Amino acid sequence: MCGIVAYIGAGQAQPILIEGLKRLEYRGYDSAGLAVLDDAGLRLARSVGRVANLEEKLEKLGGFRGTIGVAHTRWATHGGVSETNAHPHRDDRAGICLVHNGIIENYASLRKYLEERGHRFTSETDTEVLAMLIGELYDGDLEAAVQAALREVTGAYAIVAMCEREPDVLVAARKGSPLMLGIGNGEYVLASDPSAIVAHTTQAIALDDYNVARVSRDGFRTSTVDNIDVTPRVMQLELDLEQIELGDFPHYMLKEIFEQPAALRNTMRGRLDTKEGKVVLGGLNSLAKELVRARKIILTAQGTALHAAMIGEYLLEDLAKIPCECEYASEFRYRNPIIEEGTVVVAVSQSGETADTLAALHEARDRGALALGVVNVVGSTIARDTDAGVYLRVGPEIGVASTKAFVGQVAVLTMISMFMARRRFMSPEASARMIAEMEQVPDKIERVLSLNDEIRRVTERYVERNNWLFLGRGYNYPTALEGALKLKEISYIHAEGMPAAEMKHGPIALIDDGMPVVFIANKGNQYDKVINNIEEVRSRGGHVIAIATEGDEQIREVAQEVIHVPEVADSLSPMVTVVPLQLIAYHAAVLRGHDVDKPRNLAKSVTVE
Ligand code: F6R
Repeated sequence: MCGIVAYIGAGQAQPILIEGLKRLEYRGYDSAGLAVLDDAGLRLARSVGRVANLEEKLEKLGGFRGTIGVAHTRWATHGGVSETNAHPHRDDRAGICLVHNGIIENYASLRKYLEERGHRFTSETDTEVLAMLIGELYDGDLEAAVQAALREVTGAYAIVAMCEREPDVLVAARKGSPLMLGIGNGEYVLASDPSAIVAHTTQAIALDDYNVARVSRDGFRTSTVDNIDVTPRVMQLELDLEQIELGDFPHYMLKEIFEQPAALRNTMRGRLDTKEGKVVLGGLNSLAKELVRARKIILTAQGTALHAAMIGEYLLEDLAKIPCECEYASEFRYRNPIIEEGTVVVAVSQSGETADTLAALHEARDRGALALGVVNVVGSTIARDTDAGVYLRVGPEIGVASTKAFVGQVAVLTMISMFMARRRFMSPEASARMIAEMEQVPDKIERVLSLNDEIRRVTERYVERNNWLFLGRGYNYPTALEGALKLKEISYIHAEGMPAAEMKHGPIALIDDGMPVVFIANKGNQYDKVINNIEEVRSRGGHVIAIATEGDEQIREVAQEVIHVPEVADSLSPMVTVVPLQLIAYHAAVLRGHDVDKPRNLAKSVTVE
């Protein structure tokens, strides 16, 4: 969602804020804004579109000089995309300015109250309401005014406020949206995520819900909204700048697709004991007994992470023989779920901040479930709010379309399944065989990546088509869903994914002459059935793009296009078969001239419901 960055120190704030905004731009990019305090007071600039537009505007204005400031890149929730709705928002009476990520749910009643007290609003946003509320409650102490205002609001927020009358203070707070305070040498950077902090310092604290930080050049204090002192836990950020730079790649998405072999090796490093035929997951050791005795597992997530969780459902039932269900977090949280004794809930999330996934996790945990996290971002809210978990270790994912995190999620869910399976029904030999196969997956992905040019040429032949189908069975049914999601989210081509057999029950009516239908047709358990489904499509004029196993030349008799991937065990195959689908989506978006890393209407990390 939105990205926040704020600075106080000895340096000039504007370039630091702009650089931070660029690093956070993947979080939201419909408009941006920045405010700096100088001797004359508050200087503010906002613009619609990308951070580059804001930079241009600042250049025309001659730039702002000052060593304290706040900045924001927006993903609209309340009010359309316009300069007046962009942040920062201000209360001119008190000289307060505010950036905010999240949603103030009771903003309408607060706005009415403030209007009655003479406040005039210039935007449609909930953030301006919060700025005015802080202003209304301001009595010479910004920290106290922020605390008092936050006691009145419901909803989610990460905020940073500053005030003309206290030019040496930033006040930040969070509930439900991430915010970190980077602690440098005589300077502080507040930001929505570490990528905007690591250029300055690797020491940081992640604010907890209902925490407020008062930051000045001399130091900082953390408290609750009720003004009770909180002892901060300083952590070391494990992120280096190189990981978040584009390098020689034209887009982050392509970089991250190509990083998958290395990312996966990192995910597996030290966790696969080939000799003993065991999976070693330090994060789960303390709960191993409870996990072995689990009676039911609920996997919950959204989007791409949900597709990975669906594969996890197949894996856990198939390998560990534990009844599983996989649910959209947004549905699960509101449907009064039944949680019986022995239920384990697994929240799967790249960011660890997805609002629905977090709420589903809380719902299940409050009803007595043991909570596990499968998360990429270390120290994120989901990681902190679970009883135990396993990190993906795939490195920061900047491209809005999730790629390497998907492969990492599937790998971790495979390892969790094997961790449980080996303690339940799996023999050491079977486990050792699977571990040995799993260790080869990164090399197999590398072989698929070497087909990049061929995949681009296949995509070129169909890129003008506006309707695509993605079909698969078994382990590769969720892969088909993921292929369709990737294509639609970055190329804006309509695509549907479904189980191959489901096509006959209605969607087959869509198939007309030349319609591209992508089949995941690797040599797995249901290969013959998939071939039957291919015939059904072909006989209705559809053009089949088959993701097939190396050596399967016969499939050319039924498919117009064949992309061969290395042979891999069925249960491990999604990590390999998804790669050509990611590349098809990438090339389709580039060929259609879209901004791959910043697709329209989307944002990374959905921290609102
Ligand atoms: C799609 C995509 C989204 C996310 C979803 C969950 O490419 O990235 O569908 O997978 O918003 O996000 P996380 O994994 O951060 O919980």
